[in-house]
Amino acid sequence: MIRYSKILGTGGYLPDEVRTNEHISETVDTSDSWIFERTGIKSRRIAAPHESAASMAETAARQTLEAANCDPNDIDLIIVATGTPEYVYPSTACLLQHRLGIKNAAAFDIQAACSGSIYALSIVDQFIKSGAAKKALVVGTEICSRIVDWTDRGTCILFGDGAGALLLGASDEAGVLSTHIHADGEFEDLLYCRNLQTATLETQEEAGFINMRGNEVFKVAVNTLGRIVDETLEANNMAQEEIDWLVPHQANIRIIMATAKKLKMSMDQVVVTLENQGNTSSASVLLAFNEAVRDGRIKRGQVVLLEAFGAGFTWGSALIKY
Ligand SMILES: CC(C)(COP(=O)(O)OP(=O)(O)OC[C@H]1O[C@@H](n2cnc3c(N)ncnc32)[C@H](O)[C@@H]1OP(=O)(O)O)[C@@H](O)C(=O)NCCC(=O)NCCS
Repeated sequence: MIRYSKILGTGGYLPDEVRTNEHISETVDTSDSWIFERTGIKSRRIAAPHESAASMAETAARQTLEAANCDPNDIDLIIVATGTPEYVYPSTACLLQHRLGIKNAAAFDIQAACSGSIYALSIVDQFIKSGAAKKALVVGTEICSRIVDWTDRGTCILFGDGAGALLLGASDEAGVLSTHIHADGEFEDLLYCRNLQTATLETQEEAGFINMRGNEVFKVAVNTLGRIVDETLEANNMAQEEIDWLVPHQANIRIIMATAKKLKMSMDQVVVTLENQGNTSSASVLLAFNEAVRDGRIKRGQVVLLEAFGAGFTWGSALIKY
């Protein structure tokens, strides 16, 4: 009997262009020191005009398949998390399926903003545990730079572009231990990006750009992430000390530090990538996980807590034995 979904490989992609805080300070009223002190960010990557959510997803996915030594046609499910798809439809997952030359797989996108990859991981885990899929690809891919208002200093300093991916397969060895996903639509006004295609005359001015009340988002994020940490530990009857690594969503170093403190974890056990990547929304947790696997920090058998929080609000966690 299949008991677990297990991570078989990871991958990531970051575009070449580096946009530093100094670059941003040339066009809006801000400074490197303000941005770094308040967020922990120094620079972010910006996709080139020829790149898309699907092209970045393809590079991350190919790297993942290579790491897992997996034939693309063994994949029976593809879930892509993105808030910046190239098309309303077809989904980015279908575009990725075609790019990878996969013929027989279900493919769909999910939209849960920055929590997207945790949502996708949770869905895949259910598919694999039920026997409905044997090998599944989870990708988070975002071109946030195209939905950022580069004249708004409250948001343009935060976001970046990139893609991260995981391949999961059925296993009787421990893998994903539990996932927890939640949402509360009450907070629509604090963080949103109105759809350009369906905007009306009244709403079209703000459509297509991220709108955020950062300070209020910050407070809800810290409280909510504290609660999901408790929920995850309780569900697994696990103590804080049993967690080897925290791989958090990369929105703000102060939010990450608050979650680490809650877990009584040293920052040496926390994977932080935002200094040079900013917030890559649904790609951020997967990019951070991939980085720490590839540089040898996260090792097989270790227990890793992934968590994210985003627009909706949505939030979630996954506890994994790697
Ligand atoms: C956006 C964020 C960095 C702003 O930091 P903050 O400490 O909350 O700052 P505030 O919004 O309270 O603004 C404080 C002051 O700094 C100013 N300010 C805002 N952005 C600035 C910038 N880039 N440079 C300089 N000053 C800035 C504000 O205008 C305000 O000025 P005032 O006091 O004269 O009115 C922070 O709120 C944050 O990271 N929030 C969470 C965002 C997030 O995680 N979003 C994604 C969730 S997935």
